[in-house]
Amino acid sequence: MKERLAEFRQLLAAENLEGFIVASPANRRYLSGFTGSSGVLVISREEAVLLTDFRYLDQATEQTQAYGFQVKKHPPELWETVAEEIKGKCAGGRSRWGFESDHLVEKHYRTLKEQLDGCCFLTPTEGLVNRLRRKKTGVELDAIRKAVEITDRAWARLLPELKPGRTEKEIAALFEFFQRELGAEGTAFPTIVASGPRSALPHGEPTDRQIEAGDLLTLDGGAIYNGYRSDFTRTVVVGAEPTAQQQALYDLVLKAQQAALAGMKPGMTGKEVDALAREVIAAAGYGDHFGHGLGHSLGLEIHEAPRLALTDETVLEPGVVYTVEPGVYLTGWGGIRIEDVVVVTAGGIENLTGSPKRLKP
Ligand code: GLY
Ligand code: MN
Repeated sequence: MKERLAEFRQLLAAENLEGFIVASPANRRYLSGFTGSSGVLVISREEAVLLTDFRYLDQATEQTQAYGFQVKKHPPELWETVAEEIKGKCAGGRSRWGFESDHLVEKHYRTLKEQLDGCCFLTPTEGLVNRLRRKKTGVELDAIRKAVEITDRAWARLLPELKPGRTEKEIAALFEFFQRELGAEGTAFPTIVASGPRSALPHGEPTDRQIEAGDLLTLDGGAIYNGYRSDFTRTVVVGAEPTAQQQALYDLVLKAQQAALAGMKPGMTGKEVDALAREVIAAAGYGDHFGHGLGHSLGLEIHEAPRLALTDETVLEPGVVYTVEPGVYLTGWGGIRIEDVVVVTAGGIENLTGSPKRLKP
């Protein structure tokens, strides 16, 4: 695992940075292996240090060893200790130290700036660690596969439980319980369950609403396994045969998803893949009702760069994992979304999600 640190140092050298401060929990875990909830990485060309508190010392020492980090305990003021640590490496040299401008909060930035007293330039950066995190290694893909499999199996167990009279909250709770029973460490994000007209809310939070026969029900959920996430959505009709309109819209969303799954391959940009699905939905007259991007990368976090979206110019590369999740939402009527997780391969994609796609399960 020390190769992550070595690769990151190459990036630092290419960006002309003497050192780097990591505040983001996911980047901290990726580079150091540390899974605790609190700590900061201070990485220079020669040394890599995790500063954490008393609660985590033993765990951190064990977890970071293979990643090439030393663990140091910080006294009560974490950010003053971070500044001290950097000062010890600055050698009065006016060197450039990078920080994550999308994660370091202003208060901590101010403390650092005051304490460093001009001994180095704090340089804002964005997405530097993500450049390494983007392409998943075999170990990372194994964890994602397992998370996806847990979610598939939990969904299969949940299907017989989807009955009129149950509330959205009960269904979310059952799904989360099944995932835990199947080995998940937790849910990848708060489970979405939206039924009847509420299924028009792309991110409907589960409520006490009871499912009625003939309702559309959308569930969007995922598992965490070894820190890595799955993401999954299916829409079904509960307790009745689908109406013609429900079936027609379902078939449209499925056709859009299949167009993207069949067409996406290395060398295309995220926006080109997004267009594969969007054109199908727009051609049927529902373009304004597909108001979000087609997908996003994921891993240690549920939403990672790059995306499959109208504005994403990132070129697809083998080893990058994406969701593919077109949807159509009609206010007052309901909505439909179908989401799989795929990994880009040399010639196209491998779909990791195995759950069937049927409006009437
Ligand atoms: N599954 C939640 C999302 O992608 O936003
Ligand atoms: Mn998603």
